[in-house]
Amino acid sequence: MKDFYSFIAPFYSFLSKLVFGNDLNDLKIRFVSNLYQKKILIIGGGDGLDYREFQSDLEGEYWELSEAMLRKAKKNLAQSKLTFHLGDFRSNPKNQFDEIWLHFVLDTFPDFELEQFLLEIKKVLKPHSKIYLADFFKPQSNVQRTIHSSMLVFFRVFTQHQRTDVPDYEEAFGKAGFQKVDEMKKRKGWIRAQLWVSAAS
Ligand SMILES: C[S@@+](CC[C@H](N)C(=O)[O-])C[C@H]1O[C@@H](n2cnc3c(N)ncnc32)[C@H](O)[C@@H]1O
Repeated sequence: MKDFYSFIAPFYSFLSKLVFGNDLNDLKIRFVSNLYQKKILIIGGGDGLDYREFQSDLEGEYWELSEAMLRKAKKNLAQSKLTFHLGDFRSNPKNQFDEIWLHFVLDTFPDFELEQFLLEIKKVLKPHSKIYLADFFKPQSNVQRTIHSSMLVFFRVFTQHQRTDVPDYEEAFGKAGFQKVDEMKKRKGWIRAQLWVSAAS
């Protein structure tokens, strides 16, 4: 499998901090709580730097499609109790999680794959468990639109990013049977952290 993130993995975190300061990190840790009671599933976690501070409380699974990113995550989170997996997440209904973290990864899926993916991960969520999403939403100003378009071009060139827009997360999660229970917005709503639970729970 080709590693589309191998080129940018060494400076991914540096670049995102350069452009967004601490905003992305703030969103990725805003809803982290009571980790010692939870088994966490992290999909597309990148280099794992954001979770380093509380890694000793992290237990669960870490899935990455990029070998370069996974190598970095294993180093950055060496003190965690996570198990690390290379490839596409495959659900095993016997293996249930208390929380699933999906940060800046769902926009790599075309719409029809996103719907399938949300239904797939729903199978491994315990009742009342949460999906924790941090991601880009629609840009709210011309400056944001310019930065966003430039980022998309960058990712299309270096990571074969497929989309030219952001998914409609409200619609996709709603269709998959989730309801939003909390949200934090930054930059007038361009970037957000959200918590979703299964509507049936
Ligand atoms: C834009 S980066 C975000 C990394 C990290 N979550 C962050 O917030 O900095 C997207 C990451 O998701 C990974 N990825 C994309 N699709 C994936 C999938 N289906 N399963 C696991 N990882 C995936 C990529 O390899 C890449 O490291």
